[in-house]
Amino acid sequence: MNNKGLIAIIDSNAPHREKVHKALVNYYDIQELGNSTGALQAIQESMPELILVSGGLKPMHAVDFIRCVRADERLKALPIVYIAESETDTNTQRAKEAGADATITRPYPFSVLLRGVSAQINAGVERAWEALPSVQRDALKNGIVVFNNIADALMSGEPTSFTSVKDNCRPLVQAIENNDFKSILDGVRHHDDYTYAHSMRVATMLSLLGHAAGFKNDEQLLLASGGLLHDVGKMKISHTILNKPGRLTDEEFEIMKSHVPETVEYLKMAGDIPKAVFIIAEQHHEKLDGTGYPHGLKGKELNELARMAAVVDVFSALTDRRVYKPPMEAEKALEIMSEEMTQHLDQNYVKMFEGILGDADLLE
Ligand SMILES: [Fe+2]
Ligand SMILES: [Fe+2]
Repeated sequence: MNNKGLIAIIDSNAPHREKVHKALVNYYDIQELGNSTGALQAIQESMPELILVSGGLKPMHAVDFIRCVRADERLKALPIVYIAESETDTNTQRAKEAGADATITRPYPFSVLLRGVSAQINAGVERAWEALPSVQRDALKNGIVVFNNIADALMSGEPTSFTSVKDNCRPLVQAIENNDFKSILDGVRHHDDYTYAHSMRVATMLSLLGHAAGFKNDEQLLLASGGLLHDVGKMKISHTILNKPGRLTDEEFEIMKSHVPETVEYLKMAGDIPKAVFIIAEQHHEKLDGTGYPHGLKGKELNELARMAAVVDVFSALTDRRVYKPPMEAEKALEIMSEEMTQHLDQNYVKMFEGILGDADLLE
């Protein structure tokens, strides 16, 4: 199974294609197409998540190529980024009119390309939500609203309002009640903001587990909010560590672990965060045998909510799509959780969770 999203660069300038390849290859699979002939058919077959069309394209002009892509029924929603040759590229406006979603002008730093690509992939994923029924669409969109608000608040040192987080989680809990939540899990699969996608999955699956364990209305909202907020401290961790395409060094792992105290500190600032949400945020990496972090809590010291959150968090981490690993099949993840993690995870919740996934047809 493919773990990286595919990006196509359509450009007749080989050194520039190479530059794009170098900038993006750690995070995406790259399809290089050196001229316009056959390029349309190639992307119809590969169905990339985004295409970069350069002003240097030949023999067809980049603007005409963009027009052809937009005229194709299957490709009309495909995010397109036009790469302008220079500040004075006179085709930038025409590329936009032809259907390019964004422009990046050469020369550019790698980070600008990376951020631009990521933002356009996400915009494309979010556009696709418009076709969903309102409950599922709102659940996904509200999750983004919560995340954007928190990202802004974290930067400016402002507290977040729990009431607004809880209100934004209502559609998600409604979708769980209606037993109609698969499009929410599918809807974040290709989202490029890992912390958002992971947190939405944890919020959805934690509510699902809570539903099976008999949690009702307001308690369900606490679980969904706790799931959404449990890793917000990761927003303070550098993109390079968070998305490192390899094993973290001990030092990097220490930084990664700091997301728990960062989350807790941030939530404390709000002043109105319920205890249940704190427990989920603070204890989701604790393990039954005391080898977890940050406190090394053991056995009975582990709250029920922490046990539930740990099961869902581990399952989500194993089955999430990451740049450095393919998403593990659900069955395989459950097998590891029930055979190799008996000292870490509360097996009653592992079994309950397995039952829910089976009932929901989420085990292929
Ligand atoms: Fe975490
Ligand atoms: Fe997590």
